[in-house]
Amino acid sequence: MTQVKVLFVCLGNICRSPLAEGIFRFKVRERGLSGQFKIDSCGTSDFHIGETPDSRSMANAKKNGVDYMHRGRQLKKSDFYDFDYILPMDELNMKDVERLMPEDATAEVMKMRDFDSAEVGSDVPDPYYGGENGFQLVFDILERSTESLLDELLEKHKLN
Ligand code: 4NP
Repeated sequence: MTQVKVLFVCLGNICRSPLAEGIFRFKVRERGLSGQFKIDSCGTSDFHIGETPDSRSMANAKKNGVDYMHRGRQLKKSDFYDFDYILPMDELNMKDVERLMPEDATAEVMKMRDFDSAEVGSDVPDPYYGGENGFQLVFDILERSTESLLDELLEKHKLN
């Protein structure tokens, strides 16, 4: 069976991208499509390799009905061939990804909030240094963005 392979990218891989991965995985499972997708996340930095996601992010997601787990890892060259879509969370992540992208990469890079109809093209703000409001804001942004991303991929790959 062919799989659509999606990689979410942020700086630390403990707040935004593991949450995006968790919400997207939840949506894919809800639609009974888990076998058709490979889903992962990583960071552009090596700050939090091996770490579990930010506990504030996980607690907030749980309040919103999404349970997830992940271990931090850094973006690597093979990701550009092993994934079909790479989704950086903000402009800095986008620039870092493009800088590291090999000429013959097969992955397509798309900014996460290009899928957010409420604010197309903006950054997913980094909630790391903020309060609880920041985590809910990020959850809401990723909830909207991953829903549209999933709809677009299902259409494009004729999965529904
Ligand atoms: P993330 O947030 O990129 O959404 O995982 C951050 C987490 C940690 C740091 C920066 C951003 N940090 O500098 O440690």
